[in-house]
Amino acid sequence: MNILVLGSGGREHALAWAILQNPKCDRLICAPGNAGMEALAECADLDICDGSQVVEFCSDNAIDFVVIGPEAPLAAGVADALRAAGITCFGPSAAAARLEASKAFTKEICAAVNAPTAGYAHFTDAEAARAYIREQGAPIVIKADGLAAGKGVIIAMTETEAEAAIDLMFGGEFGAAGAEVVIEEFMEGEEASFFILVDGETCLAIGTAQDHKRVGDGDTGPNTGGMGAYSPAPVLTDTIAEAAMAQIIRPTMAEMARRGMPYQGVLYAGLMIRDGQARLVEYNARFGDPECQVLMMRLGGQALDLMLACAEGRLSEMAVNWAEDHALCVVMAARGYPGAYAKGSEIKGLDQCPEDSAHMVFHAGTKAEDGRVLAAGGRVLGVTARGASLSEAQARAYAMVDQIDWPEGFCRRDIGWRAL
Ligand code: AMP
Ligand code: GLY
Repeated sequence: MNILVLGSGGREHALAWAILQNPKCDRLICAPGNAGMEALAECADLDICDGSQVVEFCSDNAIDFVVIGPEAPLAAGVADALRAAGITCFGPSAAAARLEASKAFTKEICAAVNAPTAGYAHFTDAEAARAYIREQGAPIVIKADGLAAGKGVIIAMTETEAEAAIDLMFGGEFGAAGAEVVIEEFMEGEEASFFILVDGETCLAIGTAQDHKRVGDGDTGPNTGGMGAYSPAPVLTDTIAEAAMAQIIRPTMAEMARRGMPYQGVLYAGLMIRDGQARLVEYNARFGDPECQVLMMRLGGQALDLMLACAEGRLSEMAVNWAEDHALCVVMAARGYPGAYAKGSEIKGLDQCPEDSAHMVFHAGTKAEDGRVLAAGGRVLGVTARGASLSEAQARAYAMVDQIDWPEGFCRRDIGWRAL
């Protein structure tokens, strides 16, 4: 079959890499892709948020299956446009993707089915929000309602910080995303990511992971999109995962179907775990990045069968074939990230890194030029390895990092520390 992957990050390179291992894939196109994806598939320059352009491209290229990586095309309704045109597609409708796009919507769905999550209130008025903060006290969490590229959450340790956050959000800092604010109880515990495929009805857990959001070693410094990840997440034990399926995932997915917006795609549940109990922090309507890199390394080619079954409503026939292994991804980013950084520096030494079922350098912000690989973004590489133990996976990943000659880049040296 002919398959199109939409996106250009490390997540999409990992999806493409796994899909290619499955003999069902005859032809793979990535749009817009990056230097890593160019090395293994065709790349096409497409506006991936323009549904009619994507549909036209699929008809012209006889595409049988589309895998949507990032949230922007989901929120823009690209999955709806593809399904309306009769093209099989992995990714939720715009209505169902509101689980990521609107925090207030997710909180309301959780409340309707009593799913464990932080207590909250929803405000469209700054004065009422301030009064609520004074009543609740700190620490407290202030969130812009809409998509804010991961920057719409402020954890306020004092009431003064919380009120400053309200001024910021109602002051237009987050554009339209800040006109509505959710204020939440601060949850303590350890965070983990849980990935579940949902075909509208059946929910199938496909793995757990933990990422490292802070830029610096020891989880210090500003937040980023994620500086590394590993799978599985030991804190999310089978017992806790099964309870999360029963109390959070299945009830919220059933509620979505009941409301006429069945969810179809991967559901990424951010969970806060404390005293053996999980509570929902947030839902995302896509794979995590770099969590996808470690999940794909562990799933390999079966990922295509699972995503296809998900898109075709056949998940109840499927099971995940798990190896007893671990995977770990170290993100290499351009110096300065998550602040300002330069583009265009050359990355050497990539040919020294092994590429096999246990070693892969996934590309994120890279560009191929005259046979060279240049940095073209903030997060640039996801150096990923698999092993029989997490420490073996970690040693293999850092051995690859040490082969890469890129003075303008940096990485954390402690990915996996929490689990080791
Ligand atoms: P979100 O965009 O909702 O995932 O929030 C970003 C990050 O903020 C999460 O991954 C958590 O680390 C943190 N966070 C969000 N909500 C809470 C909460 N209610 N309590 C504690 N930490 C939170
Ligand atoms: N790594 C966090 C995310 O993809 O949202």
